[in-house]
Amino acid sequence: MRSSDRAFVRADNLDVLRELPDGAFDLVYLDPPFNSNRRYGLDRGQPDRAFRRGRRADGPWGLAFDDAWRWDEETAAGFHGLLQRLPPGPRELLATLRQALGAGDLLAYLAMMVPRLVELHRVLAPTGSLYLHCDPQASHYLKLFLDSIFGADRFRREIVWRSGWVSGFKSRVPNWVRNHDTLLYYTRGPRFVFNKEAAYQPHPEGYQRRGGGANPRGVALDDVWTDIYSPWIMSFSKEKLGYPTQKPMALMERIVRVSTRPGMRVLDPFAGGGAALVAAEAMGRRWLGIDSTHLATAMIRYRMLWRFGLDRSRFPVHGEPHDLSAARALARNDPLQFGWWTLSLVHARPLGAGRTQEPGAGPRIEGALPASAGVLDDETPPALAPGSAAEIPWGMEGGPPWTLVIVQAVLRPADLPDLVQRARELGAQRVLATALELPAGATAAAGAVAGQGRFGWAAPEDGVQLVTLEDLLRRDLTPALIQRPLPQLHLTPQPQGPRGRKGRRAGPT
Ligand SMILES: C[S@@+](CC[C@H](N)C(=O)[O-])C[C@H]1O[C@@H](n2cnc3c(N)ncnc32)[C@H](O)[C@@H]1O
Repeated sequence: MRSSDRAFVRADNLDVLRELPDGAFDLVYLDPPFNSNRRYGLDRGQPDRAFRRGRRADGPWGLAFDDAWRWDEETAAGFHGLLQRLPPGPRELLATLRQALGAGDLLAYLAMMVPRLVELHRVLAPTGSLYLHCDPQASHYLKLFLDSIFGADRFRREIVWRSGWVSGFKSRVPNWVRNHDTLLYYTRGPRFVFNKEAAYQPHPEGYQRRGGGANPRGVALDDVWTDIYSPWIMSFSKEKLGYPTQKPMALMERIVRVSTRPGMRVLDPFAGGGAALVAAEAMGRRWLGIDSTHLATAMIRYRMLWRFGLDRSRFPVHGEPHDLSAARALARNDPLQFGWWTLSLVHARPLGAGRTQEPGAGPRIEGALPASAGVLDDETPPALAPGSAAEIPWGMEGGPPWTLVIVQAVLRPADLPDLVQRARELGAQRVLATALELPAGATAAAGAVAGQGRFGWAAPEDGVQLVTLEDLLRRDLTPALIQRPLPQLHLTPQPQGPRGRKGRRAGPT
């Protein structure tokens, strides 16, 4: 595929959708916020159990995205204008629901969703399909809007996806345990792509039909899917990246395989950790992903490189800083997003964020870079071939060597011992640190070394490698990072302060 066959835009999807041509996509898969009234945090996984999903989701440090909708002055002020821009059907419906439900948080959520559904219908090809992934919180309202936008006769199925088994605190609710998501499946027209031969499930092992004659393809899939588990319920799933609400590859592959053919175009406007895009790439489909956060961009860059060898020159990402002054502005306005973006420059997997020791110095962002040797260029296939277990295992302890990537707005020499300590705690073998401002002298040294075809500067602290943000921006250092593994950390025990280091170190909060 050519690089123009893949693209990612970090932006509000409504702005992007309005720019896209009519009928450009064969499949739209969207997994928007569900109106769950929750804020979702990145989950670091095994190495740091304090940073579990949901526990710190309300602090600024681990926030991935917000799914709490409020009817506030801004929504109220924009509501009339929004109605004017909608086609008559959804406009009447939204106005009626305002009367019926009142101007509250549910209406705010629907006011966000409806204009996007209108645009998604417009960009769908005449034979295209749309799958809206949601849950029972708002699925009945979304279905009304889809009926009014697509026409009720374009509704094909409501798929119930049972995501696994429920245990622990979720099973103790004084209610029936909730255990499914809903996928609303619509097509743009009466004729649509549906590869029936891919919509079968193999017979269970040893299955024999009485009298013979079993269908060799297996059993035709129905609209209740119980055979695919969410990576979230499997504690040792290799697929799990810590992105909250991450969907399983098997689910995405089923949808892409059945509703598109190779070379067709897939759009995911709420891309998150990028499962739909990874499935599209794996199956030779063209794709466009959109997400408003740099965290999602970083996850997707990480997955595209480590699974397919696609570095940033091989698929364009729009909506990112392209020079130092834009990077500085991002660091000032949103230090967390600045950190995720910087991780994405080296294709590191976002792990989490914590506070630095210095009051007011902003967050310390942490990422992971597999330290596998492999040349990622056109001539040589990537060392990590498609389909291999390329992603770092969830519990990285005992896995292959990896590099802890650290991003801070300002990095001081006094921080360096702390970085080594952090790598020890997480089981990383090396540290690569970058910042807008490096310790005195480091910038010049890094520049000189980079000029000689290397990428870093060995800090006085053993095993910590510094790289300037300027260097990261100037050229893609990922191939260099992969070809030339960083020096091993000399993990000399750190002196314990009177309060113990744990109380002072940076780390997820
Ligand atoms: C439920 S998650 C998607 C998870 C994804 N399907 C996966 O498998 O990882 C929803 C995503 O929508 C993004 N998002 C929310 N509002 C958005 C908007 N207006 N424009 C673009 N992205 C948005 C959030 O940042 C979040 O990543």
